Order: sequence, then structure tokens, then C-alpha cells
Amino acid sequence: MWGVRVLFVCLGNICRSPTAEGVLRHLVREEGLEDVVTIDSAGTGDWHVGNPPDARSAEAAMRRGITLDGAARQVIARDFEEHDLLLAADRSNLAALRRLAPDAEARAKVRLLREFDPEAVASGDLDVPDPYYGGEDGFDHVLDVVERACRGLLDEVRAARA
Ligand code: 4NP
Repeated sequence: MWGVRVLFVCLGNICRSPTAEGVLRHLVREEGLEDVVTIDSAGTGDWHVGNPPDARSAEAAMRRGITLDGAARQVIARDFEEHDLLLAADRSNLAALRRLAPDAEARAKVRLLREFDPEAVASGDLDVPDPYYGGEDGFDHVLDVVERACRGLLDEVRAARA
């Protein structure tokens, strides 16, 4: 069956990419698309490898009925083979992924997550802001931003399937 394999990528793989993973899993389950969309996340950095999602991200998600799980891992070369889309949280993650990509085909799979949110594209603000050193409201903002992008992504998945 046709499908799309998505890898969300941020810096630490404890805030933004696990949030995107949890949000998209939630939306995919709501729409019954579990057999079509497979989802994972990873980080470009190695500081938090093995750690669960940041408690502030997990709590903000839980307040919306979304569970974050998994243990942080770093992006590896095989990720470019095993995924169709590698979606970077910000331009710094995008640049890191482009450096890691082994060839042009792999590089073509690397995009910014917010490219799937038409409003973000129109505004030109395509980064998911890093909430790690900020206040509590940063985690809610990440959820808002990520949910819009994931809904846009699913719109494209549905259109591609039709
Ligand atoms: P994330 O957030 O990339 O959204 O997981 C961060 C987590 C940790 C650090 C930076 C960003 N850090 O510097 O440790």
C-alpha cells in the first residue's frame, strides 16, 4: 500500500520533534491513517540521547490529550533510506540534515516542517522556535505551530492518495 514515512528532526529530540511526532500520531489515529503514515523523530545533537521527552513538552501535550513517548536518538545515515520526508524544526536543523545527507536524492527528502503550513509560508516565518531555554508558554506555542504544520502535511498526504 502507498505510504509516507516521516522523520521529525530537531536539535535535542526532547522538545520539538517528539512533540511533532505525538501530534501527528494523534491526528493520524483520528483519521484512521495509521497504515499510511509512519512516524519517528530524531535529533541532530547527541546531548540527550536515551532521554525521554522534556517534562515541560510532555505536560503541555498531555493537557491537550496527546501523549509524548520514546527515547531521544541521533539522526543516522540510514534515516535517509528509511524515510520519505525528513522534516526539520528550524533552519539550523535543516542545514545540519543537508550536511548529513549522503547524496542528492537524500537531500531532496529534507524539508522544513512549517513548509506544510500555508500561513507560515505566507508569513515567511518557517522556524519552530526552540522552547528549551524559554518559559512555559513556549511549549504551548510549539504545540500550536506544530499542529498547524501537521494538519497541512496530512492535507497533502490525503491529496496524494486520492
Ligand atoms: P529540541 O530542544 O531541539 O526541541 O529538543 C532542545 C533540547 C535541548 C537543547 C536544545 C534544544 N540543549 O541545548 O540541550
